[in-house]
Amino acid sequence: MAKITYIQHDGTEHVVDVKTGLSVMEGAVKNNVPGIDADCGGACACATCHVYVDKDWSEKVGKPSAMEESMLDFAEGVEPNSRLSCQIKVTDELDGLTVRTPENQH
Ligand code: FES
Repeated sequence: MAKITYIQHDGTEHVVDVKTGLSVMEGAVKNNVPGIDADCGGACACATCHVYVDKDWSEKVGKPSAMEESMLDFAEGVEPNSRLSCQIKVTDELDGLTVRTPENQH
């Protein structure tokens, strides 16, 4: 279990407990956290689960795969700390993770 903070573009924070093994995207969707659309359901095929990983966490979260990077090209406002949240698997080590969601996903 990991406590994850999702911060919306307007600054609204949502702190939820996410089960180990789920993705950061699933943690948001299952807890009705707004800001992540996840149109493809987690198949790394839509880029509507774009998040910005808090700088303090980027090392622990790791880098995107080549497939994820090419999908990120379809997201708007991509930054060096951008990730597709369906591709981040929740582990106990990610307890305390903070991600920010973009203004919109399309
Ligand atoms: S949910 Fe579609 S790429 Fe993440």
